[in-house]
Amino acid sequence: MRRPKNQQNEPKTAIPRPLAAAAAVLAWLFSSAFAQAQDTPDYFRQNCMNCHTIGGGRLTGPDLKDVTKRQTRDWLANFLTNPKAVLDSGDPYAQKIFEESRRVPMPMAPGMTRERAEKLLDLIEAESKLPESQFKGLQISTAPFTAADVQAGRDIFTGRQRLASGGTACIACHSIHDIAALGGGLLGPDLTNVYDRLKGRASLSAWLVAPGTETMQPAFRNHPLKAEEIHSLVAYFEDAARYRPADPTGDRVTFLLLGLFGAAALLFAFDGAWKWRFRGVRRPLVDAAHKRGA
Ligand code: HEC
Ligand code: HEC
Repeated sequence: MRRPKNQQNEPKTAIPRPLAAAAAVLAWLFSSAFAQAQDTPDYFRQNCMNCHTIGGGRLTGPDLKDVTKRQTRDWLANFLTNPKAVLDSGDPYAQKIFEESRRVPMPMAPGMTRERAEKLLDLIEAESKLPESQFKGLQISTAPFTAADVQAGRDIFTGRQRLASGGTACIACHSIHDIAALGGGLLGPDLTNVYDRLKGRASLSAWLVAPGTETMQPAFRNHPLKAEEIHSLVAYFEDAARYRPADPTGDRVTFLLLGLFGAAALLFAFDGAWKWRFRGVRRPLVDAAHKRGA
């Protein structure tokens, strides 16, 4: 009894394709309207803070404290709405801050408009005047590293100590000198020399506050490392940088000697065999000659 009724209803409940498409467009319009309505501090937190502080020092990008005193508002608003175009135009100021940021380009932020740029500059200006901005970022300790810090860093790296905000343990994607036996992940580079590669304590700490690379950024954007975690990890990386692998030339000499020895042995064997064969041919000839001569 119920079946035919259901079948009858089916075409009515299925949304026709054009309607579904229209709904998707509407949803998109609403979500971008929502993005517009999102307040400026939230927008800054989500789109700018992983590269900039206001009064907390440089991260990937410059500290934005008092940026409106370094450049005109017009220039800055223009830069925010299209950083690449300003850089490509050969603008000397854009070139200078690009070089100072180790040639990492400032990206175009999602949903950026002239109006939003103006609001962001208002915010940066207001925050710059405060003794302590809410966008000061993490304050990483500069206390000397202790053996306990190194151990804590190692525990964080290997996942023995879980990351406070739920990030994945480094060992899932990275190896390092002293965990070869545990077998670190291979997705990311070996971090034994990362302390030197990323130019020491301040720079490596800042990098970890806001990892900006392809895999690290999505992995840690919503699970930022805590200041104490960064302190310990950097202690561990500083310690790791002192590690020197066993001199590989020693191995190479052994290998060479073995090779030479092998070659010599082969030559002996070959020589012996050849002599034997030579005698084998020669002896009858000599004997025959002797016989003839005799
Ligand atoms: C991926 C990192 C990154 C993000 C995200 C980012 N910036 Fe930048 N920003 C930079 C870098 C790097 C520079 C230096 C210029 C360059 O290298 O192109 C810069 C430069 C700037 C400057 C000029 C600084 C100066 O000293 O004159 C301003 C202003 C600025 N950014 C604001 C913002 C705002 C606002 C946001 C968020 C909407 C943002 N940035 C997002 C990396 C970033
Ligand atoms: C999901 C995998 C993954 C996890 C988890 C991960 N990393 Fe990475 N990491 C990468 C990859 C891949 C790279 C190479 C750059 C990129 O693609 O982001 C990288 C790059 C790095 C670099 C820069 C290396 C260089 O030579 O430039 C550092 C430093 C780093 N990771 C530290 C860490 C630390 C510390 C942790 C743990 C708190 C961690 N990573 C956890 C995948 C990961």
